[in-house]
Amino acid sequence: MPKEKKSGMLAQIKKSFKSKFMTTKTTLSRGKKPPRIDSHASPLQTDIPRILKTHAPKNPSLAPIIDSTFHAYPITVIGTGYVGLVMGTAFAEFGHTVHCVDINQEKINLLNTGIVPIYEPELEEVLKKNKSCKRLIFSTNIEMALKQSKVIFLAVGTPMLADGTADVSGILASVKTIADVLRDQTYRVICIKSTVPIGTAAAVKKMLSQLCPQGVFDIVSNPEFLREGCALKDFMMPDRIVLGSSSEKALTILKEIYQPLLQRNIPLFITDNITAETIKYASNAFLAVKLAYINEIADFCEKTGANIFDVAHGMGLDSRIGNKFLTPGPGFGGSCFPKDSTALLKKAAEVGTPLRIVQASLDANKARKKGIVPKLKNLVAGSLSGKTIAVLGLAFKANTDDIRESAALDVIYDLLQEKAYIKAYDPLAIENMQKIIPDIYYAHSAEDALHNADAALVLTEWQEFKTLNYQIPILDTRNIVKK
Ligand SMILES: NC(=O)c1ccc[n+]([C@@H]2O[C@H](COP(=O)([O-])OP(=O)(O)OC[C@H]3O[C@@H](n4cnc5c(N)ncnc54)[C@H](O)[C@@H]3O)[C@@H](O)[C@H]2O)c1
Repeated sequence: MPKEKKSGMLAQIKKSFKSKFMTTKTTLSRGKKPPRIDSHASPLQTDIPRILKTHAPKNPSLAPIIDSTFHAYPITVIGTGYVGLVMGTAFAEFGHTVHCVDINQEKINLLNTGIVPIYEPELEEVLKKNKSCKRLIFSTNIEMALKQSKVIFLAVGTPMLADGTADVSGILASVKTIADVLRDQTYRVICIKSTVPIGTAAAVKKMLSQLCPQGVFDIVSNPEFLREGCALKDFMMPDRIVLGSSSEKALTILKEIYQPLLQRNIPLFITDNITAETIKYASNAFLAVKLAYINEIADFCEKTGANIFDVAHGMGLDSRIGNKFLTPGPGFGGSCFPKDSTALLKKAAEVGTPLRIVQASLDANKARKKGIVPKLKNLVAGSLSGKTIAVLGLAFKANTDDIRESAALDVIYDLLQEKAYIKAYDPLAIENMQKIIPDIYYAHSAEDALHNADAALVLTEWQEFKTLNYQIPILDTRNIVKK
């Protein structure tokens, strides 16, 4: 795509997003007591796992393959966040009738007026299309939706609690509502899409059996691997679909639900519940390890004079290593890697098996984020006190408005402690950051952030940051700025 077209698209995204949500602050402050970060806030068995289909997708198109063998199901997705909204929209696009329900009335009101409360590329268009043909229904009436559904997907948040474990209160609340509905003795499949502590499927089964002994149901563990920023594409074109269950009946239904993807020979891996739950945690912790590793090698290269990008490229050419997740950055963030690595460590401690490498990745990641301000000090040759820093990028990665565990949070607090002035800018994530850190200057544009700043700090790999006219020293933690 030509550069002009790309930046045009981005400007359009920004414009529509800003007009919906954004109020830009105009006061410049520094040295205020940093607000507290509340990142931990309110948070049957097949004997042999088997790969049913193991070939790479034959059809590179995103469009699901829907033919005469397709069987549409009435589905409820509980939780309309990054995962639930994307999954519900995709299922509706397949042809299923999907109730997307949430306890957040404001979110549902927005969705019912056609406003998508999160940013994900292409989501709004597909969502609106399916909403208008009534295959996608948004509601806070969870019980009503469940009564009409044969398959229930749990996609509620499982944020990290202060002790590092996952908050499963949303799962438990949902299970109680499901138990009420199961009294009608209609068979339903309950599919756990949220990333849940290992053993949750068994606990949910036990809880439902106690709350509603007459209930007829099966539980399937179906972890999600999508990435924010390309979530719909990832959902439509996953590397694999993992299903954990001992019930052939439930698995058959799930295969019918995913049929438009399975038609494209997306690998389907079937195992038991606890293994499926573990696959999710082990995968995320592994990716976090890979990122923490390349970040440490980047620090090492900085000292030795080697070119980290050539090092990563040279490593990635080895098919045993692969080139993905070998891009150094300011330290990984997002709602998954830190949370899931921490929860895995908690479980490991509980069962008495130390996962030292996972612990090391979290330690290395913390150090990586902490190392940014000292590097900035070097860049401006001394104290940051009274200096103005243009912080470019607040989202934890490009193409999302999500700031959960973003390196920007740590860095902004560190800069405030150094009594620096901050001019922060992000094409999509300002509104979310303002909710957590209201008292810094949020710029109207990247150019506004750079104006009269002493140094620029690039934290997110947004396309528009690549070609700005930087006239000041830059610390480019993503190495995207064209030299
Ligand atoms: N975000 C990702 O990239 C990603 C990827 C894979 C898996 N996951 C996992 O998927 C799950 C959802 O993540 P997310 O990022 O979509 O979370 P999110 O915070 O964006 O959305 C969660 C939604 O659940 C709703 N909710 C909470 N309790 C509820 C209840 N009792 N009833 C109904 N709705 C309720 C919230 O209001 C919110 O809208 C988590 O377990 C997460 O770890 C996330």
